[in-house]
Amino acid sequence: MTNPISQSAAALSQDQLKTLVGQAALQYVVPGEIVGVGTGSTVNKFIDALAGMKPLIKGAVSSSQASTLRLKALGIAVFDANDVTELSVYIDGADEIDGHGNMIKGGGAALTREKIVAALAKQFVCIADESKLVQTLGRYPLPVEIIPMAAQQITQRFAALGGQAQVRLVGGEPLVTDNGQILLDVTGLVITDPLAFESQVSQWPGVVTVGVFAFQKAQVCLLGTAQGVKTLIF
Ligand code: 5RP
Repeated sequence: MTNPISQSAAALSQDQLKTLVGQAALQYVVPGEIVGVGTGSTVNKFIDALAGMKPLIKGAVSSSQASTLRLKALGIAVFDANDVTELSVYIDGADEIDGHGNMIKGGGAALTREKIVAALAKQFVCIADESKLVQTLGRYPLPVEIIPMAAQQITQRFAALGGQAQVRLVGGEPLVTDNGQILLDVTGLVITDPLAFESQVSQWPGVVTVGVFAFQKAQVCLLGTAQGVKTLIF
């Protein structure tokens, strides 16, 4: 059987690159401990690989109902975040990551729980294909989880920053998050100071979570590239 890590990455699809980085993330999982697990198609590859380490780990803290279902289906124990005081590592994907480890996240609508689990971890390991690496955050529509009654005023605040906010829909209806709230996706932003931006938007009434991860930025990024998995340390 071919070992995908030794394959020439030049011939690999985006899906195969996700598999590569998902497998590469196993080296950051600490035997005997609980691992923090993110959400998304790249993390799904990590979860599948983690099943092979099942006897070596205590289990996982999950950042979404979707990841919890996948972990449990593979027989991996899922712990409540309230039962854990600290995690060695949190492994998650990103919609964008810059050269300092700041990220935009929430494309999979799980940003609030992702930020909560990331905040428990000593180290955030981001797994992504190279299409996610950017100079400046903002090309990807910024997800923001909000309380529905604040949608109009938050939309106005983003407009004052040059952003256009749209409620995220599924089947023509507002998407409801795992936390029972809704999401705005904001285009037109150029986020030159992610820490200041996250700090500012987080204070607006009705914002549950802004999808800029600067306070909980990545310390490591395993990037799937045409040259193989590159490790970026921030
Ligand atoms: C989910 C996220 C994901 O990490 C992000 O959307 C990347 O997903 P994928 O690995 O499917 O590209 O933030 O809320």
